Amino acid sequence: MCGIVAYIGPKDATAFLLEGLQRLEYRGYDSAGVAVAKGGALKVCKVKGRVADLAAAVPARFKGSVGIGHTRWATHGVPSDANAHPHVDNAGRIAVVHNGIIENADELRARLQAEGAHFTSETDTETLSHLIAAHTAEGTDLEDAVRAALAHVVGTYGIAVLDAEQPDRVVVARNGSPIVLGIGEKEMFVGSDVAALVRYTRQVVHLEDGELAVVRADGFRTFTEDARTVTRQPSTVDWEVGSYDTAGYQHYLLKEIHEQPAAVERTLSGRLDERFATAHLGGLNLDARELREIRRVKILGCGSAYYAGEMGAQLIEELARIPAHSEPASEFRYRNPVIEHDTLYVAVSQSGETYDTLAAVQEIKRKGGRVLGVVNTVGSAIARECDGGIYLHAGPEISVASTKAFTSTVIAFALLALHFGRIHDLSPADGRRIVSALKALPGQIREVLEQEEQIGKLAAEYADHAGMMFIGRVRGYPVAREGAQKLKEISYVHAEAYPASELKHGPLALISPELPTVALVPDDELLDKNLTTLGEIKARSGRVLAIAHRTPEAKLIDHCVLVPKSEPELDPLLLNIPLQLLAYHAAVALGRDVDKPRNLAKSVTVE
Ligand code: F6R
Repeated sequence: MCGIVAYIGPKDATAFLLEGLQRLEYRGYDSAGVAVAKGGALKVCKVKGRVADLAAAVPARFKGSVGIGHTRWATHGVPSDANAHPHVDNAGRIAVVHNGIIENADELRARLQAEGAHFTSETDTETLSHLIAAHTAEGTDLEDAVRAALAHVVGTYGIAVLDAEQPDRVVVARNGSPIVLGIGEKEMFVGSDVAALVRYTRQVVHLEDGELAVVRADGFRTFTEDARTVTRQPSTVDWEVGSYDTAGYQHYLLKEIHEQPAAVERTLSGRLDERFATAHLGGLNLDARELREIRRVKILGCGSAYYAGEMGAQLIEELARIPAHSEPASEFRYRNPVIEHDTLYVAVSQSGETYDTLAAVQEIKRKGGRVLGVVNTVGSAIARECDGGIYLHAGPEISVASTKAFTSTVIAFALLALHFGRIHDLSPADGRRIVSALKALPGQIREVLEQEEQIGKLAAEYADHAGMMFIGRVRGYPVAREGAQKLKEISYVHAEAYPASELKHGPLALISPELPTVALVPDDELLDKNLTTLGEIKARSGRVLAIAHRTPEAKLIDHCVLVPKSEPELDPLLLNIPLQLLAYHAAVALGRDVDKPRNLAKSVTVE
């Protein structure tokens, strides 16, 4: 949520800043801005709108060899030119870009105003530029001024600070919002995400919470809030530059949908044990005895991560016979939850940065609970906070709507459930059944993706309706929820998910030709029940698009998409893939901004 970039070196900073912001735009896209320092003065350009609008607004002579930039998702104050970052103090000397929330911003603002500061925006960030300026006097190093200013701040931040009078450095700080330094040849880059940097360098340093860095063209120095120098070794970014491009696809979302077979292969890689019909998960940091003592599993995540957790809970209950439940982390953290020592808590997050999920993890740990992370982003805040976990290795997910990370999360849960199951009483035969089904999944996902053209045509037809109902029973219900979520977030078509069994207890009243139903109809023990529900919908003139293993009778449906059969426990994963394509093509048919849906941003790092 929001993106930060900075550059210092011999080249023109503006070109890097604009390109870096373009690459971070998925994290926030309601306004953008850049500042460069030259000749003892700052130049600032910021606009409401996209990075492309900023690029068009930046004057040709906007040059400098040091600069900072920001792309924003509004929290304090509406999207506007004035609220866009960078924010500058009244003397026009200090420019700040910031991700996160300053919780005591009102108090700081009042104090600074009483001391004579004149505010030009509604943002919490502007307090930082005035506060830092108040600490810069003749001869004070920028890093000391930033450190002194941050001592007054309560909240979360990733910041980059530029001083017109000290243009030989940029100062950055992290507390709850990521900051990554990129090391170049006599030049340094900063990003809130490696996506901004990989084109220029693979050598990066991730700042830890509570750390600052002074970044100069020829290197950097990291230190703590109490000025102790800390040594940080660079690491090499694993992913290729191409992982951050659309690779010829029209959208990142479509690319990421098609990357799923490879993502699943990576999630499974080295983790399946055919001999003992189990899974090896080296990062759990729990031995067999500790695992046997677990009586309950509680899964926490937000949005699609929560729905993936629902699928995970079902897998754990079915394969390991341990009661398991998924809950939105955003609710859990606010309800003073009871933390039990024989419950295993599992936090799910693609980004590893979602604030609600991070806060839930911190609350569990504060109360002495044990938390595993199922996380895609290596070294992210949630991954670091957890006691152990499973990395997805799904690769960078750029599109705001989650697809491949969702699928890889369910795979990770299948591995966890298999591992648990084999420690409890899952038979070797059942273990083998799941192992071979998991191995078949990448090929089966490819088979579903081959039907894209047919699904695309259906999507264009169904997108014409004001709303859609998604129904599924037991294993199918989380699939329906995720399918509805995907459709509404990228196409803005209203979608409601219901357990098929609940339809006749109320929502059947909505059924009409104007509200089509997408029905999950797997060939499992509930098939007859599902077919009965389809009959009830058709009897009310409802239209039905079935996602099934076998085409139901013609009188029960209007259209059907067939998916390959897996084992019943893993069927939900394959049933979900056509729903991703349905949402994608509906959004394209309606002319939506697929990768950057309105009002949203990737990684919700605020409450
Ligand atoms: C939906 C979507 C969101 C995220 C949610 C959690 O397509 O992407 O609902 O799943 O914001 O994000 P992470 O997984 O990064 O914690």
